[in-house]
Amino acid sequence: KSNYIMLAIETSCDETSVAVVRNGREVLSNIISSQIETHKKFGGVVPEIASRKHVESITAILEEALREAQVGLTDIDTIAVTQGPGLIGALLVGVVAAKSLALALDVPLIGTHHIAGHIYANHLMGDIVYPALALVVSGGHTEIVLLEQEGKFRILGRTRDDAVGEAYDKVARALQFPYPGGPYVDRLAQEATEEIVLPRAWLEPDSYDFSFSGLKSAVLSEINRSRMKGESPDFSALAKGFQQSVIDVVTSKAIKAAKEFNVRQMLLCGGVAANRGLRDKLSSLCEEAGLPLLIPTNQLCTDNAAMIAAAADLKWRRGEFSSLDLKAEPILSL
Ligand code: KG4
Ligand code: ZN
Repeated sequence: KSNYIMLAIETSCDETSVAVVRNGREVLSNIISSQIETHKKFGGVVPEIASRKHVESITAILEEALREAQVGLTDIDTIAVTQGPGLIGALLVGVVAAKSLALALDVPLIGTHHIAGHIYANHLMGDIVYPALALVVSGGHTEIVLLEQEGKFRILGRTRDDAVGEAYDKVARALQFPYPGGPYVDRLAQEATEEIVLPRAWLEPDSYDFSFSGLKSAVLSEINRSRMKGESPDFSALAKGFQQSVIDVVTSKAIKAAKEFNVRQMLLCGGVAANRGLRDKLSSLCEEAGLPLLIPTNQLCTDNAAMIAAAADLKWRRGEFSSLDLKAEPILSL
């Protein structure tokens, strides 16, 4: 069926989200309920609390998504859900809700990979041209993914330690910002007039892998060094140094891979794709290289269910459905 309505559910981390999407691309609603306020006081996501919060809010979010889309449950042709990777207890809530709905409505169920969702958020922005290269930068993942054709993913490189968002959040904590601190570091870096230049972890010359833990330590030791001298550390110069190092490495590697694999398009995605400096730098490098670039809107960069629908649409068109014994998978390869 080419004219169809999908209901998608995402609960892999700390956002409970339900979207109603027509034909894989027309977002009728995309409700996102963030648990950030709850987790803030712990300085990070507490898995057990995340699951409980998902249980509490999933029904209300589902109703709100249907109401905003002005569709009834009986209009739904298929249910998509994030199967993994993510927090097991959090994933389970979405998977159980999706299975129950699929069973009750007697419609196909489509299990979806969270990172495929981040990548295909770009399909909500424009047409994807293959081969394409995706730079995935989120709180849990940092990967360079080659898409030789639709739905075919090849990971060229990934982080060997912290994910970019994780590094942002840890640095933000050292700079005394609340969790999640990525956006604060971004803002401070943009306002900074000075920059403390920090090292870049290029790794082996032919590697597309990343490492951010050394950079994070460099920020911490700069802070300690200032304090030992009885000076107050220049937080904005450090934020800028950190941000410049991250952006320099991730954009250089992405452009290098794009050239090596002769891709026709660059896709930026994941929560850190909301970073102003990163968006600007990658845009200008892609323009220089004559490479078209897609970047989701900020709302579609961070976790949301519309991106899950966009990725599940590929499976819908191929008739690749999941059985009702679909399991939540905390670790799942792309
Ligand atoms: O994709 P996402 O919502 O969740 C995961 O699947 O991980 O990404 C969340 C991450 C957090 O680490 C957050 O600090 C970071 O994205 N983030 C940013 C910005 N906005 C969100 N990092 C840097 N600059 C931003 N503007
Ligand atoms: Zn995510």
